[in-house]
Amino acid sequence: MGYRTEANVMRTTQIERIDDEHQLVKTLHFKDPLCAKAEPGQFIMVWLPGVDEIPMSISSTHLDRMAAITVGKVGEATKTLHKMTKGDLIGVRGPFGNSFKPVGGKVLIVGGGTGIAPLAFLLERLVATAQNIKCFLGAKNRRELLFHSRIRSLLARKVAAEIKTSTEDGSLGHKGLVTELVEAELTAHSVDMVYACGRESMLLEIFHLAQKHKVPLQVSLERIMRCAIGLCGSCSIGKYRVCADGPIFTDTQLAEVAGEFGLLKRDFDGRRIST
Ligand SMILES: Cc1cc2nc3c(=O)[nH]c(=O)nc-3n(C[C@H](O)[C@H](O)[C@H](O)COP(=O)(O)OP(=O)(O)OC[C@H]3O[C@@H](n4cnc5c(N)ncnc54)[C@H](O)[C@@H]3O)c2cc1C
Ligand code: FES
Repeated sequence: MGYRTEANVMRTTQIERIDDEHQLVKTLHFKDPLCAKAEPGQFIMVWLPGVDEIPMSISSTHLDRMAAITVGKVGEATKTLHKMTKGDLIGVRGPFGNSFKPVGGKVLIVGGGTGIAPLAFLLERLVATAQNIKCFLGAKNRRELLFHSRIRSLLARKVAAEIKTSTEDGSLGHKGLVTELVEAELTAHSVDMVYACGRESMLLEIFHLAQKHKVPLQVSLERIMRCAIGLCGSCSIGKYRVCADGPIFTDTQLAEVAGEFGLLKRDFDGRRIST
């Protein structure tokens, strides 16, 4: 992608609505015709003047030229977004990157933490294409399980659909890691595609399980992003740039970058550090 594209022009927009998902996550809705055309898996750069510009996946789009991002509070920029109120201004560039490819057949969706955000958006497409959908959601505890009711109501449109949850403290569903549910599922049933987003250690485990059971995989990767258009190299993984070649990668591509996936990333100074 070149830098002189319509998507790469910074636009300012007002926050129109804020949903408190839980103590650490908020969904911010804003009007932007380009973001409203985003496909599930694509991301935008959100500019907070005097603070930072950070990448965020689109978590939903609406017919009235509205889009939303779902923000976990982790550091300075995301804390600033959490303090914002209706009518405050943000800058947006994008949408950037590729998107999840919806398929037919039996699909398994696996999300952890705020990684569930782009998957809930994907699910809106999958209910039209897939014959059977299983959705496994993981969180530290019941309160931090994102979009549980949104996903339940989307799956209610489908006859063959199931939702399972895992929490590290056992407050809802399986006590333990969501990858344990994935392992049991892939051992017992055939699956045509796995979609996953969450911590890279979780994605690496899912990659190994998918390889073992010979199931194709699409995952969303995160790296430090600055330009978002393939120029600066801060998001590189092996021969790929996550912003331009991803953020969605297949099992075949992940195998090509096995020396870095789940192991190494670049820090803000460009040094390689462990993930
Ligand atoms: C393609 C993509 C999509 C993302 N989608 C979401 C989303 O939907 N919801 C969500 O809550 N978060 C998402 N993130 C992560 C989000 O960008 C970071 O949490 C955010 O940039 C942290 O900024 P901060 O100033 O609050 O925290 P900082 O104090 O800067 O950092 C806190 C943590 O976030 C990581 N981080 C910081 N800046 C970046 C950056 N520019 N790119 C990637 N990681 C960074 C740091 O390594 C650190 O571990 C996404 C990241 C990428 C790359
Ligand atoms: S963020 Fe600059 S190359 Fe990807």
